[in-house]
Amino acid sequence: MPEPSSRDDADDTDRADQARHADRAVGADDAAAGLPQRLDGLYATRPPWEIGRPQQAFLGLARSGALRGRVLDVGCGTGEHVLMCAGLGLDATGVDLADRALSAARAKAGERGVTARFLRHDARRLAALGERFDTVLDSGLFHMLAPGDRPAFADGLRAVLRPGGRYFMLGFSDREPRTPGVEVPYRLTRNDLTTAFAGTLRIDSLDPATIEITLNTVGIRGWLLAGTRLSTPAA
Ligand SMILES: C[S@@+](CC[C@H](N)C(=O)[O-])C[C@H]1O[C@@H](n2cnc3c(N)ncnc32)[C@H](O)[C@@H]1O
Repeated sequence: MPEPSSRDDADDTDRADQARHADRAVGADDAAAGLPQRLDGLYATRPPWEIGRPQQAFLGLARSGALRGRVLDVGCGTGEHVLMCAGLGLDATGVDLADRALSAARAKAGERGVTARFLRHDARRLAALGERFDTVLDSGLFHMLAPGDRPAFADGLRAVLRPGGRYFMLGFSDREPRTPGVEVPYRLTRNDLTTAFAGTLRIDSLDPATIEITLNTVGIRGWLLAGTRLSTPAA
C-alpha cells in the first residue's frame, strides 16, 4: 500500500509526541505484571490502534480475494479483522491474551449479528490450538514479540497453517523513528522478517505500508508482509 504523500509534510515534533503514545505498549510501570495483565492494561483506555474498523491494508487484502478458508487472527484485539472475515462468510477465529479486548470483540460480534470465535490464547503457543487454518492475519502482534519469542511464533505458525496457507502481517518498520527508552513495538527490519520466517514461509511480498492509528492521519510507517507456508522446511 503506498504511503500518504502528506506524510512528508508531517511535523516531526508532533510525530515524535504521537509516536510516544502509539508506543505505550510496554510501560515501565507494567514491567512487573504478567503478560496477560500487561496486555489487558493496554485496553484500560482506548489504545491508539483501536480505529473502530479494519486497517486499510487488510481491507485491501479482503477486496483482492486473498483472504480464504478458515482464518485465524493472532493478537486480534477487539476483533475488527475477525469480524471483517466473518462478514465475508469465512470461518474466523481470533486469539488474544487481553481479556478486555476479547470481551469487546465478543460484544461487537453480538451487536453486529456476526458469528465469530474469540479465544484467550498465547500467540507464542499456536500449535497448542490443535487446529489448522488457511489464512493467518497479524495486525500488530509480531512487532510486539520479543526477538527471543519469534522462533516459537514461527514454529506455531508452521503448525497451524496448512501447506500453501497464507500469512499476512502488518507491523512497525525500521523507517518509523524509535522513541528513546521504549523498545516495543519493535521496529522491524526487512532482515528481521526474512530471518524470522525462513523455513516457514515463502515471502511473496514485503512492502512499505501504513498502520493507521487514532492519533493522527498519517499513521505509522509499517510493513505489509504476505507469505505462503512452505510444504517442507527449507534446508
Ligand atoms: C497492536 S495490538 C493490535 C490489535 C488488533 N490486531 C488490531 O489490529 O486492532 C496487538 C495485540 O496483540 C495482543 N498480543 C500481544 N502479545 C500477545 C500474545 N503473546 N498472545 C496473544 N495476544 C498477544 C495484544 O493484547 C493486542 O491486542
